[in-house]
Amino acid sequence: MEEVNQSVVTEFIFQGLCTSRELQIFLLLPFSTLYLMTVVGNLFVVILIITDHHLHSPMYFLLANLSFIDLCISSVTTPKLIIDLVKENKLISYGGCMSQILFVHFFVGDEMVLLVTMAYDRYVAICKPLHYTSIMDRQKCIWLVVISWIIGFVHGISQLILIFELPFCGPRVIDSFFCDIPLVMKLACINTDTLGIMINADSGVVATACFILLLISYTYILITVQLHSKDGSSKALSTCTSHIIVVVLLFVPIIFIYLSPVSITWLDKFLAVFYSVITPLLNPAIYTLRNRDIKKAIKKMINHR
Ligand SMILES: *[C@@H]1O[C@H](CO)[C@@H](O)[C@H](O)[C@H]1NC(C)=O
Repeated sequence: MEEVNQSVVTEFIFQGLCTSRELQIFLLLPFSTLYLMTVVGNLFVVILIITDHHLHSPMYFLLANLSFIDLCISSVTTPKLIIDLVKENKLISYGGCMSQILFVHFFVGDEMVLLVTMAYDRYVAICKPLHYTSIMDRQKCIWLVVISWIIGFVHGISQLILIFELPFCGPRVIDSFFCDIPLVMKLACINTDTLGIMINADSGVVATACFILLLISYTYILITVQLHSKDGSSKALSTCTSHIIVVVLLFVPIIFIYLSPVSITWLDKFLAVFYSVITPLLNPAIYTLRNRDIKKAIKKMINHR
């Protein structure tokens, strides 16, 4: 006979957003709408930038890449969340759970590095305007994008390797709607203190390094804008405000979930919804509604029809 403690968990069960069945059915429409808007909005930004020659500059290429990654982040968690709203048993296979961990960390890591790249691009444009075209040429821009993908990938794989070590043999209920590392780690049947520190350090190093670089770039930019002439600085400031809003929206929930010592279930869930469903939608909205060139490109596109 098989021994009970030898049994291996092949599936996890999500607790979902809430326990009330009625509320879950009610949430179906809002979440489907949000996801549809995220897909359409981000695809629109990517297509607009690729097709409009006036938007062929490093800043907009990076923005298109950001939109693409937002689309990816949202697609790792949201479709499953929406399907699960109508399901009684919210199951996910072990492999599915590991894929979610890999891809969430891959894309979020990538997005953080890309935000640093965008900040660097703005730093060069505003603080070294005369050298901009020689510093940020097409080649350099492509390299920066490739590097952000590589760092995201290495980060995702390293998290996966760490979590792969864990044996799961008993509890398999995850009190969330996707496989986030802290919650999955709680279910392991060994002591996870050391591994937990390593996993947090892995995410912490990437997030903190990016955050410090972002802080430095934007401080430089804001100081430069303050010191120099009024003309042109308002446009620079408006672009940077968009960037800073996006940075805050991404980093604040992640810092709360990964670095805060206390974990409050409903708050963690709310923040998880925020950075996996809301932030990917807000990015294209913030950029398209606040950016004059993009608004102009949209108007031109409409007039062409
Ligand atoms: C990402 O950036 C690269 C480099 O500038 C650009 O060639 C590419 O079109 C962008 N990708 C997307 C999906 O916008």
